[in-house]
Amino acid sequence: MINEFLPDDLPNDPLPLLAQWLQYARDHAQQPNPDAMTLATVDASGHPNARIVLCKQFNVNNGYVTFFTNYHSTKGNELLKHPYAATVMHWDSLHRQVRLQGQVVKSPAAESDAYFNIRAVISQLGAWGSQQSQPLQSRAQLASQVDAVTKRFANSSVPRPPHWGGYRLWITHLELWVEGPGRVHDRAWWTRAIIPTDEFNFANGVWQAIRLNP
Ligand SMILES: Cc1cc2nc3c(=O)[nH]c(=O)nc-3n(C[C@H](O)[C@H](O)[C@H](O)COP(=O)(O)O)c2cc1C
Repeated sequence: MINEFLPDDLPNDPLPLLAQWLQYARDHAQQPNPDAMTLATVDASGHPNARIVLCKQFNVNNGYVTFFTNYHSTKGNELLKHPYAATVMHWDSLHRQVRLQGQVVKSPAAESDAYFNIRAVISQLGAWGSQQSQPLQSRAQLASQVDAVTKRFANSSVPRPPHWGGYRLWITHLELWVEGPGRVHDRAWWTRAIIPTDEFNFANGVWQAIRLNP
């Protein structure tokens, strides 16, 4: 499957192919975090900002990816003001890249709870102890913040902090890229419109597919 180019006839709906790629990367990418993706947001001045997050879920039927973070972080604040983002995944050993763009909404609270509850306790405590993206005087200050929450929840399970949860990136633009010899790569680009139906969901338009020069 490695280095296999995209089908000559591009599928109308790229989501099943994306699902295959994600599963293939998990099975074969031989890197510690095959689900890692660069997430780009923009600040209030329109300046881009990027960092890695983990893609924890891909909903193949509706076409969104889910990542989890602190809603008060820099990315959280940027998404509050401008709820659009782009992601890139790259698996060097597989010669593949995936680029997504889309509109971002928070995940339903029950979904964030469900994921938080299966995290290791140490990570649950970290979500309480770290005011992600805020200034920190020292590493010792962070340790004492984590100590404090460890004591606070010593005799109970750790609930999800209200400032921590998931985001769904509803895909409107999707590119699959396969490395080719002599930089003659294979690229295909799909776009669709989406219309909000409620706080968490969109009705999805029909995909348009096109091949691009590399
Ligand atoms: C492999 C890897 C995975 C990461 N996964 C996450 C993640 O899922 N969620 C998260 O909030 N930060 C994650 N981080 C940390 C972020 O890259 C980033 O430092 C943090 O979210 C703060 O970003 P911000 O200040 O732009 O909001 C990860 C970092 C790496 C290197």
